[in-house]
Amino acid sequence: MREFRDKVAIVTGAASGIGYALCEVLAEQGMKIVLADIEQDALEAASRRIRTDKGVEAIAVPTDVSKAKAVEALAEASLHAYGAIDIACNNAGVFTAGPSWECTEADYRWLLDVNVMGVVHGIRSFVPRMIAQGTECHLLNTISMAAVTAMPFASVYHMTKHAVLGLSECLYHELNFLAPKVKVSVLCPELVNTAISNAERNRPPELARAGDIPDTPMRNMTMQAITDNTKRGVAPRVLAERALQGIKDQRFYLFSDEEWRKASLIRLEDLRLGRNPTFEPPLPKTE
Ligand SMILES: NC(=O)c1ccc[n+]([C@@H]2O[C@H](COP(=O)([O-])OP(=O)(O)OC[C@H]3O[C@@H](n4cnc5c(N)ncnc54)[C@H](O)[C@@H]3O)[C@@H](O)[C@H]2O)c1
Repeated sequence: MREFRDKVAIVTGAASGIGYALCEVLAEQGMKIVLADIEQDALEAASRRIRTDKGVEAIAVPTDVSKAKAVEALAEASLHAYGAIDIACNNAGVFTAGPSWECTEADYRWLLDVNVMGVVHGIRSFVPRMIAQGTECHLLNTISMAAVTAMPFASVYHMTKHAVLGLSECLYHELNFLAPKVKVSVLCPELVNTAISNAERNRPPELARAGDIPDTPMRNMTMQAITDNTKRGVAPRVLAERALQGIKDQRFYLFSDEEWRKASLIRLEDLRLGRNPTFEPPLPKTE
């Protein structure tokens, strides 16, 4: 897509971090914004800020992306308000950590529900409507450099991001064959200074962590490392601008900085040679 003015963008996870930055950058292109998030107060505030600071039309649609019906209602809300869905950003995501065997069933279920099924619901609700529109459209799935690497103690998160990468690659081919006006990209952030390390704020009570395995030192250590390292991460705006450029250039893989890229290439080499996984994490940024 190269024409953005007066077109319509849906962004999930819009109340914070990368999602909010996407709203800002797309609004600066003159787009109308449909903001969706599970955190209602933050969502209302974000949508007000987009309207007043950017001078574009924007609505807030409270949405739990893990629920198919909610995402279907989000698509309908966009059509009802603005008559179109030109860009849809499946961006909402959550994080948890710990050795695979210490993560609870609820940890797995929560991340699969939001990070994987949230995107599945987005694809099923947005893509058919984009195809029916018959115009140039773009779907952006926020995954992570976790999708192309495999780091210990964040396996649940990595698993969900790997899943959405595979899904998106298949979707890319399907759209090329059946609906070439609809494009898809995967945004692969490195560490970004957002509220992701506090994702627990949005965990549904029915998937509360208390239960099978209590918090362990390794989980707590990893959560602390994520908190510290994301604080030193890049600004969300960097990712939003990268996404906009990728949409303009119709590029599928929107990769991250050199350190993470190097780690992903080492994994690729492991796969190519059939050798055992190399542990060579990207160097954390120093202050
Ligand atoms: N911050 C990073 O370092 C980083 C790195 C790689 C990928 N990502 C990805 O970027 C995306 C955005 O995360 P962020 O870093 O901006 O974090 P964030 O916590 O600042 O924003 C995530 C937003 O998603 C919302 N959300 C959570 N569960 C939801 C649900 N069930 N339904 C709807 N909305 C929900 C939250 O309320 C929040 O507003 C995620 O997919 C995340 O996995 C982040």
